[in-house]
Amino acid sequence: MKIAVLPGDGIGTEIVAEAVKVLNALDLKLEMETALVGGCAYEAHGHPLPEATLKLAKEADAVLFGAVGDWKYDKLERQFRPEQAILGLRKNLGLFANFRPAICYEQLVGASSLKPELIAGLDILIIRELTGDIYFGQPRGRRIATDGHFPGAEEAFDTMRYSRPEIERIAHVAFQAAQKRNKRVTSVDKNNVLETSQLWKDVMVEVGQQYPDVELDHMLVDNAAMQLVKAPKKFDVLVTGNMFGDILSDEASMLTGSIGMLPSASLNSSNQGLYEPSHGSAPDIAGKGIANPLATILSAAMMLRFSLNQEVAAQRIEAAVKKVLEQGLRTADIYSEGTTRVSTIEMGAAVVKAL
Ligand code: IPM
Ligand code: MN
Repeated sequence: MKIAVLPGDGIGTEIVAEAVKVLNALDLKLEMETALVGGCAYEAHGHPLPEATLKLAKEADAVLFGAVGDWKYDKLERQFRPEQAILGLRKNLGLFANFRPAICYEQLVGASSLKPELIAGLDILIIRELTGDIYFGQPRGRRIATDGHFPGAEEAFDTMRYSRPEIERIAHVAFQAAQKRNKRVTSVDKNNVLETSQLWKDVMVEVGQQYPDVELDHMLVDNAAMQLVKAPKKFDVLVTGNMFGDILSDEASMLTGSIGMLPSASLNSSNQGLYEPSHGSAPDIAGKGIANPLATILSAAMMLRFSLNQEVAAQRIEAAVKKVLEQGLRTADIYSEGTTRVSTIEMGAAVVKAL
């Protein structure tokens, strides 16, 4: 079992180090190799996703990813910005299915900005299509407008595109995930305005007929944004396109109290996957030793489950995380009065101990 370890920038190196300690404590035969990605790779090799890093990722069974990005790279040409590394990995590895669970841990109910009764017991799964949509659609660029409201003015354009097979395969992923959960899929789109969304909805309905045991409903994205804060527990699996999924998954993460708790998995059709915390590189707290490593540790658990076929080990990690929360250990992002504030390293060590 070969794992490419890509810590990246900012807090990435700190949190991934803790996840690696947890993996090493499991006594599995894991072969881990580390490489640069993101801003640090740009500085060392002139590209955020160097050839060697991409090769390592492609050859591995799974990629454990930290985070990339820093404000200091904002002025770089787009192709050299750290974010291009994660987009390049998604595209090159064909990671079209992104799983972003939003689970509210009992001990953290008070850390959410929503009323406890709205989120206690929350367990929803956002499935975001990850290699299509306006993120990758061609054409895109800048030009001088020849029509529209201001002919002759500079304009920029992106293209929202989805093909039938792209929608079909993510639909199957969503229905099959729902079969293992509460058997409900909510498909989110904007079909009252967009053609891509109409196709999305049509294909969801068609594929849904192959899953009579799963209940399918549809929601417009603006309404979904509202329902997520009004009655989040009504959702089971929420499936949506790349752009809407980006936005809604950040929103959903906050229901749980801290984005520092949420893992994610991005899979291709051979179950090769990239596993990363849902949060970013947080340059404002990088190097301070206070970042929450739990999202990355839980991502490692997802990696064991989905790509390495190690369900028992995955559950051991998840149980250990619950245990440290029960012990009252908290990093700064989830700290509240009466609990014990710990550093990144202390949190990682506590999980290892609890395994
Ligand atoms: C995410 C991030 C990325 C995205 C950025 C860093 C390109 O926000 O994984 O949600 O928009 O997909
Ligand atoms: Mn995002």
